[in-house]
Amino acid sequence: MENSSSAAPKPAPFRPDSVAGRLYGWVDERLDVGSLLALGMKKRVPEHQHSFWYYWGGITLFFFLVMCFSGVLLLLYYRPGESSHESVRQITYDVKFGWLIRSAHSWGATLMIASAFVHMFSAYFMKAYRKPREFGWWSGVVLFVLLLVFGFSGYLLPMDELSYFATKVGLAIPQVIPGLGPWISDMIRGGPEIGSYTVSRFFALHVVILPALFVPLMVFHLVLVQKHGMSIPESEEKKPIAERRTVPFFPNFAMKDLAMWLIALNVLALLAALFPWGLGDAADALKPAPLDIHPEWYFMSSFETLKLFGQFISGEFGEFFGLFVFTLGLVLWTLIPLFDGESKAGVRGRLATYFGLLVLAILVVTTIIGYAVLPAVH
Ligand code: HEM
Repeated sequence: MENSSSAAPKPAPFRPDSVAGRLYGWVDERLDVGSLLALGMKKRVPEHQHSFWYYWGGITLFFFLVMCFSGVLLLLYYRPGESSHESVRQITYDVKFGWLIRSAHSWGATLMIASAFVHMFSAYFMKAYRKPREFGWWSGVVLFVLLLVFGFSGYLLPMDELSYFATKVGLAIPQVIPGLGPWISDMIRGGPEIGSYTVSRFFALHVVILPALFVPLMVFHLVLVQKHGMSIPESEEKKPIAERRTVPFFPNFAMKDLAMWLIALNVLALLAALFPWGLGDAADALKPAPLDIHPEWYFMSSFETLKLFGQFISGEFGEFFGLFVFTLGLVLWTLIPLFDGESKAGVRGRLATYFGLLVLAILVVTTIIGYAVLPAVH
């Protein structure tokens, strides 16, 4: 049956008389994959001095795929509830290569959040949130928040001492909201204390609810990138159109994307193999909290900011005020396309850049302070 796309000349990635060419021809006749390749060759990606930043969304996507793969393997042995720590101990010490899969999943989480950070800030400073890409930005912010919740919920699942006490500290934060606070914390915990009910809730969140929200939103995000094409930074916008360079998405950009994925895979493999993710003793609510109790690095900034507010403004109000300032920052960050929505925005464009630099500086400085004040434990 003829269709409209068959009018465009189809690319032939293999020699038609080779085995690969014949196999490709057989599949193409049935699934019309040639039209997809033709589309990839028609789509063009801008090339300029800031092109490096275009790879970070793809790198984040790569880590997401790694997380799904390693997560499904972990699911084969992990048991939520009373035996969660024992099952993670088995994965780490008894199951063949279990330690490596677990290490890849934990390092993968760190690398995925780090690459999403880079992607978000590069999109911000390249002003890729401006019209018509507002929904790309908003879907990105929600993806980022979901990613943090993925990290928070996954951290508790081994139920070792550190994850138990760090989660306890984390769940004390919503408690400072007047009125609703204690109710919110109790609902997340499944009771007044962290226990096997909490693990079951976090497990359901981690493997069912979050993926069910994340995947469709990520598809929406990627469809928008496809629809709008890549934005170009202001330095390129100033050039006459004839002087702007572009390359075909397929094969030029796709091959570079693939090279980045290979580098990302190597970094992950090295970290996972050389620095295997540790497992502490099983959580024991009766034991005192370890001295160096701290959240994962991506929560260190918010943890430290709340602590600083708590020190300067006494009582629960200090922490509540800190939480309020943090939420306000996130709201402003989300709404930035409404403030700096058009190119040639002049003063507004500059103010948005200063705001981005301020946010970045606060995140970096409070994270460094957070690690610097941790007591050394040997
Ligand atoms: C967490 C999962 C995410 C995935 C898998 C993802 C994936 C991608 C990909 C593949 C692209 C095209 C290539 C590129 O610009 O790097 C892209 C573009 C974009 N992303 Fe994301 N992204 C994610 C999160 C975010 C976040 C957190 C933000 C910001 C809040 C964001 C905002 C954008 C914007 C504005 C663009 C358009 C860039 C342009 O046109 O220059 N994304 N994303």
